[in-house]
Amino acid sequence: MTRSPFSGPNRDSDLVAWFAPWAGRRLLVFGAGYVGGTVARVARAAGLEVAALTRNPATAEALAAAGVDVVVADFASHDWHAQMPRDADFVLNAVSSGGGGVEGYRRSYVEGARSLIAWACAASVPVRAHLIYTSSTSVYAQGGGARVDEASDTEPVEENGRLILESERVVRAWPGPWTVLRLAGIYGPDRHLLLDQLRAGATELAGRGEHHLNLVHRDDIIGALVAAWRCPERAADQVYTVADGCPEAKATVAAWVAARLGREPPGFPGEGAGLRRRQVPDRVIVSDRIQRELGWRPLYPSFREGYASLLGA
Ligand SMILES: NC(=O)c1ccc[n+]([C@@H]2O[C@H](COP(=O)([O-])OP(=O)(O)OC[C@H]3O[C@@H](n4cnc5c(N)ncnc54)[C@H](OP(=O)(O)O)[C@@H]3O)[C@@H](O)[C@H]2O)c1
Repeated sequence: MTRSPFSGPNRDSDLVAWFAPWAGRRLLVFGAGYVGGTVARVARAAGLEVAALTRNPATAEALAAAGVDVVVADFASHDWHAQMPRDADFVLNAVSSGGGGVEGYRRSYVEGARSLIAWACAASVPVRAHLIYTSSTSVYAQGGGARVDEASDTEPVEENGRLILESERVVRAWPGPWTVLRLAGIYGPDRHLLLDQLRAGATELAGRGEHHLNLVHRDDIIGALVAAWRCPERAADQVYTVADGCPEAKATVAAWVAARLGREPPGFPGEGAGLRRRQVPDRVIVSDRIQRELGWRPLYPSFREGYASLLGA
C-alpha cells in the first residue's frame, strides 16, 4: 500500500507514488532544473505524460532517456509555443535565472513568464491547467528577525527580488487557476553547499552566524506542489510561503553539521576578505497557512532531519 505523502522519511519511490493517482494525465514543466527536473522524472515514472522545456542539451538528453517529451528552447522566446502540448492538466514554472545577473533574472523570470502567459492565451481555447509557479522569499525585504508570511509587505530592496515580484504579477494573468509558492532556501540530495564546504575543511563561512537560515528540502517542495494540485479549488489564485518552519541561526546549523563530521564549528568573520557575499536578511519565514489550508506537512521539519538523511546517504 502506498504511504501517505506526509507520513515520514522519503525516497524517490515515495515521490513517484504521490503522482501515481494522476497516471495518464499531462504535466508540463518549464525550468527542468533541480526541482523541475525531479518533478518531471518522478511524474513520468508514475505514468503521467510529461513534457518539459529546457535550453540545456545535457538535461534534454537525460529527460528524454526518462521518457519525457523534451522541447529545447529559451523560455523567454516564443520558439517553443507551437511545440508544447496545450491539453495539459498540470503546469509547473520552476525556472530560475541560471546566472546572467540582473538581465538573466529579467529574461528567465519576467520575460519567461510573459511568454508563458502569451502562449496560454494565444489560441481560441486558453490553457486551463492548474499552474504552479515556484517564486522566492526574496520578494520580502524584512530583516531584524521579523516574522514573515503571505500577508507581509513585499518591498524587495534588491533588483533581483523586484524582478521576481514582477514575474509573480505576470503569472496572475494565467487563464486558469494559478498558485504561487514562495520558497525558502532549497537543499536536498546533491544540493548541500554548507555540507560540501565543511566536508572540504572550511573553517570560516560567509554570512552572519546569528542570522536565521530558512530552509526547505527539495522533497517537501514537491510535497507542496502535490498538495496544491490536489486541492485546486482551495489553492487557486493563492500565494503561499514554503519553509520547513524551523529556522535556526546559521551558526547553529553549521555547528550541528560540523559535529556530525567530527569537526570544530566554523567561524563567521562577517564581511571578511574572500567571504563577501550578498547578505540574506535575518528573518523567520512562517509557513503555517499552506499547512492549515492544503494539509502540507514537511517530511523534513528542520535541518536536523534533512541533513541527517543527506549525511546518511
Ligand atoms: N535555489 C534556491 O534556494 C531557491 C530559493 C527560493 C526559490 N527558488 C525558486 O525555486 C525554483 C526552482 O529552483 P531550482 O533550484 O530547481 O532552480 P535550478 O536548479 O537553477 O533550475 C532552474 C532551471 O531553469 C532553467 N532556465 C532558466 N532560464 C531559462 C530559460 N530562459 N529558458 C529555459 N530554461 C531556463 C535552467 O536551465 P539551464 O540549465 O539551461 O540554466 C534550470 O534548469 C526556481 O523558480 C527558483 O527561482 C530557488
